[in-house]
Amino acid sequence: MMSALECAAAVRIDLINNTDECKRSAFAQHLTPPETAELAVSMFSDGHDGSLRCLDLGAGSGILSVAVYERYGELIDYIDVVESDPVLASVCQDELRRLNVTFNLVVGDALRATPAKQYDRVILNPPYKKMSAGDPRQQFMPFRSANLYVAFVAIGLTRLSPGGELIAIIPRSWMNGGYFTSFRRFILEGYSIDSFHIYESRTNVFAETDVLQETMIVRISNNRQRETVHVGSSNGRADQVTWKSYPAKDLIDSNSLVIRVAPECNGSVQSTISAEGLCPSTGKVVDFRSRERIYYDRPNEEGIYPLVYAGNFAGGAIEHPLDFGKPQWFRADTQTTINQLTREGFYVVVKRFSSKEERRRVVAYPLHVQSPIGIENHLNFIHAGKPRKVVPLSSMELAQGLALWLNSTFIDKWFRDVSGSTQVNAGDIKAMPCPSLSDLERIGVYWRADLTQEMIDAICEELK
Ligand SMILES: C[S@@+](CC[C@H](N)C(=O)[O-])C[C@H]1O[C@@H](n2cnc3c(N)ncnc32)[C@H](O)[C@@H]1O
Repeated sequence: MMSALECAAAVRIDLINNTDECKRSAFAQHLTPPETAELAVSMFSDGHDGSLRCLDLGAGSGILSVAVYERYGELIDYIDVVESDPVLASVCQDELRRLNVTFNLVVGDALRATPAKQYDRVILNPPYKKMSAGDPRQQFMPFRSANLYVAFVAIGLTRLSPGGELIAIIPRSWMNGGYFTSFRRFILEGYSIDSFHIYESRTNVFAETDVLQETMIVRISNNRQRETVHVGSSNGRADQVTWKSYPAKDLIDSNSLVIRVAPECNGSVQSTISAEGLCPSTGKVVDFRSRERIYYDRPNEEGIYPLVYAGNFAGGAIEHPLDFGKPQWFRADTQTTINQLTREGFYVVVKRFSSKEERRRVVAYPLHVQSPIGIENHLNFIHAGKPRKVVPLSSMELAQGLALWLNSTFIDKWFRDVSGSTQVNAGDIKAMPCPSLSDLERIGVYWRADLTQEMIDAICEELK
């Protein structure tokens, strides 16, 4: 006979096949696969005394509640489930009726209608959608929320009983970056991050519904921060999980609101890009806002400058003009557009977005600008000035050494440990570990466009 979770898994596949793409996307209905549901509930601690009050927020077809039931059985007092889509809510009701458990189904908005009760176990795989500052539901939030998934987690946390535990299947994006600062503060001020599990592959977990976000499972409890945090990782959704334990202080810095997935390597590099006086800026020409002034073929006019994209570096060093489907020329003939140019000097450009095929997330190139150019907005560039006053680097060797360093496996690992995103922002670059500028200049002489990863790592080895 099929287990309750196997039945729920079959219902899930049915729903995925029979729900149209538009509805799935409008309600962010990425239903949890059974292996993920099982792993998630295994991260709860054991229950006791037969009276667990449980809550499932954005329950969908109820697979997470079913997994909670399989985990705790008779230890459950009741499960409250909240789901806004009446069709899924009715499927969920059928699922839960098959179990020997008391449940209460709320068909409504989780941010408004979640019962104001205390729960010992809260589970959720919330919708991932932007939440505007003007969304009237912000009034129910303990802070201004940038995304629905964060709002759901916050609602769940406010319902935890003392010692209660919440498990959420969410993207990794909350762990760094400015958008989620208030969420991290909310958690670090009042709760304990007990454990999390990271999926190393972006595509596997929600493969059937095309979720490309890097996903994690996190357990947060209504306790003071525990001294040890358990971190699990696995590749695909059914792969073997490897667990490691770290002192919480090595992963969580409540002052700077940083949460890492692995401790920082204790190398000799103590400084950062910004502490070394370097400054990342984002390329100032936004191509879709400059449609009337960008060209594929150079017009025969005054005020035309090269425009460079990441594609111009595809061979490892700048090539311009290059035919790869992007306009290569920019007309700067007003004060505003002239201010968008980058003047002569040495710089390092860093791609803001890497593709899935790329081995590294951080991809950097040295750049010698010989007459003013426009740098497109999908590139960051590093200089020695301030955000509003660009000053070129002091030498090409420095630019080459910095590009080598940023392309090292050491920096790639550092970046993956702090960020779940493939996007590299100026803020991420500022915080990157950085050797002294004289050391970078020294290794810079070894730069070539065709170095292999092994060669880059060997050159950078002595600086770590
Ligand atoms: C990512 S799916 C997960 C469903 C289910 N928990 C699972 O793990 O398979 C998110 C669910 O939240 C529901 N949802 C979206 N917005 C909601 C809201 N404001 N309040 C309650 N549920 C919502 C969607 O209909 C969907 O079922």
